[in-house]
Amino acid sequence: MVEEICLFTKGDIIIKAPKKSPVLLRTIVLVFVMVCGVYICSICLKQTNSSTKTKFSNIEVVERHCHVYDIDRSQTPYLHYPKPKTFHRAECSCNPVRLFAILSMQRSGSGWFETLLNSHINVSSNGEIFLFKERRENASSITETLDRVYNLDWFTSASKNQCSAAVGFKWMLNQGLMEHHREIVQYFNDRGVSVIFLFRRNLLRRMVSMIANSYDRYAKLLNGTHKSHVHSPEEAETLSRYKPKINLTSLMTDLKQMEVTVAKTLEHFQSTRHIILYYEDLVKNGTKLADVQEFLKLPRMELTSRQVKIHKGPLSEHIKNWDDVNKTLKGTDYERFLYADY
Ligand SMILES: *[C@@H]1O[C@H](CO)[C@@H](O)[C@H](O)[C@H]1NC(C)=O
Ligand SMILES: *[C@@H]1O[C@H](CO)[C@@H](O)[C@H](O)[C@H]1NC(C)=O
Ligand SMILES: *[C@@H]1O[C@H](CO)[C@@H](O)[C@H](O)[C@H]1NC(C)=O
Ligand SMILES: *[C@@H]1O[C@H](CO)[C@@H](O)[C@H](O)[C@H]1NC(C)=O
Ligand SMILES: *[C@@H]1O[C@H](CO)[C@@H](O)[C@H](O)[C@H]1NC(C)=O
Ligand SMILES: *[C@@H]1O[C@H](CO)[C@@H](O)[C@H](O)[C@H]1NC(C)=O
Ligand SMILES: *[C@@H]1O[C@H](CO)[C@@H](O)[C@H](O)[C@H]1NC(C)=O
Repeated sequence: MVEEICLFTKGDIIIKAPKKSPVLLRTIVLVFVMVCGVYICSICLKQTNSSTKTKFSNIEVVERHCHVYDIDRSQTPYLHYPKPKTFHRAECSCNPVRLFAILSMQRSGSGWFETLLNSHINVSSNGEIFLFKERRENASSITETLDRVYNLDWFTSASKNQCSAAVGFKWMLNQGLMEHHREIVQYFNDRGVSVIFLFRRNLLRRMVSMIANSYDRYAKLLNGTHKSHVHSPEEAETLSRYKPKINLTSLMTDLKQMEVTVAKTLEHFQSTRHIILYYEDLVKNGTKLADVQEFLKLPRMELTSRQVKIHKGPLSEHIKNWDDVNKTLKGTDYERFLYADY
């Protein structure tokens, strides 16, 4: 299912021209650094005699010329110092960058969540990059795409400048994630990618949003333009005037199917470093956004989004055959969906 990419636009400062230092000078510096690295390492080996393995990370520090001594060592696998091909990170080249991916499903608040993240000055979340089939054709095209994003060489309206401290994108479960989960988990674990799961608790509301959104693809209720996300209460009101009719025959199996997909995803990706978020909690509980910033070790900021929720208020006002839906779900595991507010 296609979802409009809605990104928070900020001043996109892209520095294109890399600094050209003389090749000879670079080579000399590189050789010097390598010799120093080997020398330091050999001293380490002599001095410690045993338990030398962890000391090897000293070499990395020397190579980067970056002082990261004050950072918790357990975080090392998650810290990256990308050297983009397309620009120079300049004064931030020694700021560590964390890699993340938002794993979600359509109509689960991920567009809204991403605009919130992108309102952070040090976050660059690049939208639904695997919307395009050729990027997820096979494991190698997925890896290539990931490499470019995580090397900061991917340009969207959400790309920040050289001072990004976290870079990522959102990935829908039906965009190659399940088919290639083994290779992807391997990549995530090898490169220290942090996973943010974003799901919706009320799957019936998700269903309403999906049907309405796909209806609007044809109906184009907002003056002939299809919109998946809106920025004003008036637009939200217009879109929510359409009341979907739920297919009662497939309702139970459709809800079950969504639940199974979520459970399978969590199982496949359990070995990654991850956090599980629910849209409803983000809406209700302000500290959840602080948890996310802590998870990505970002400097704490107030996050904002201009997006407005489309289907507000009780669900009974948004479903045409409400009474039948009520009857169908009564006494089942899904009865709770009838009453939840979000
Ligand atoms: C290295 O450790 C071994 C035992 O693990 C010890 O016998 C030896 O004396 C140590 N060498 C130095 C130089 O400390
Ligand atoms: C993977 O897909 C890309 C893009 O469609 C294609 O160019 C490439 O040949 C494929 N590689 C393999 C190993 O199938
Ligand atoms: C965040 O961005 C600001 C402004 O670009 C920069 O000064 C700061 O060093 C960045 N912080 C981190 C943690 O990268
Ligand atoms: C549609 O267009 C009319 C007039 O052209 C304007 O007043 C109205 O605000 C627009 N509505 C939306 C939802 O964009
Ligand atoms: C409702 O779902 C059933 C079972 O999946 C399907 O056979 C039927 O065509 C659907 N009805 C409508 C109106 O889409
Ligand atoms: C909000 O979330 C935090 C953890 O993220 C939790 O400790 C707290 O109990 C939650 N508050 C409410 C009202 O649910
Ligand atoms: C569902 O239907 C029952 C009557 O069968 C009614 O009492 C109840 O309020 C309805 N629930 C909702 C959420 O509308």
